[in-house]
Amino acid sequence: MRNIVLLGPPGAGKGTQATLLTARYGIPHISTGDIFRTNLKEQTPLGKQAGEYMNKGLLVPDDLVCDLVEDRLTWDDCKEGFLLDGFPRTIVQAERFDAFLEKQGIGLTAVLDMEAPEELLIPRISGRRVCKNCGKVYHVVNMPTKVEGVCDVCGGEVYQRKDDAEETVHARLAVYEEQTRPLTEYYRRTGRLVTIDASETPAHAFEQITAILGE
Ligand code: AP5
Repeated sequence: MRNIVLLGPPGAGKGTQATLLTARYGIPHISTGDIFRTNLKEQTPLGKQAGEYMNKGLLVPDDLVCDLVEDRLTWDDCKEGFLLDGFPRTIVQAERFDAFLEKQGIGLTAVLDMEAPEELLIPRISGRRVCKNCGKVYHVVNMPTKVEGVCDVCGGEVYQRKDDAEETVHARLAVYEEQTRPLTEYYRRTGRLVTIDASETPAHAFEQITAILGE
């Protein structure tokens, strides 16, 4: 059983590692950002509400996110573990999440704090492209599609996320520093934090993580 939280600023590579880890360990990748983006695309009430915050680079209100995650973790596919990407993101979310875990009688295996300097994050985010159809993540320089604008996997259209526009990226990084960075201390105090050097290749980060999580 592996119950994992991926922490780290926008562009640290949480989604990239989550895809690799899901393939390695067979546990579901639960990305709150992806869930909101799917809802936004489908114009559900949740998506419309979340979109108002996301497009400005702000966090979606805590109650909305916590309710969503708590419900998702009761699904059958989480019985052997889960990989949370982008949650928790505030102290309020972390405290409520701990209370939920305690009630369910489950603990966290590790909180993986992916660290990379800001000068690397901005080009990673601004160069990111995502397939509209299957969600595969690319980068115009580091991981380009074979044919420009077309997903290698499914042939879908590859686009730039609205919140990856440069002015929004700065807001997201500032929000991270102010509201999410304090979580590293929160998890360090309780002995659950593991720092991952995410400044080199995805393979380098993956190697560090699998050394911690085991085969
Ligand atoms: P979310 O979707 O979670 O975005 P994020 O945390 O800002 O993270 P990113 O998706 O930008 O980055 P990543 O670390 O996954 O990087 P990736 O692997 O793609 O959240 C979006 C919004 O939803 C939030 O702003 C908020 O509004 C809302 N939200 C979500 N959760 C919430 C919560 N809990 N509470 C409140 N609001 C919430 O990599 C980035 C790029 O770099 C890619 O192009 C990739 O190919 C490349 N890359 C990856 N690793 C490397 C590497 N090692 N070297 C070189 N390039 C790399």
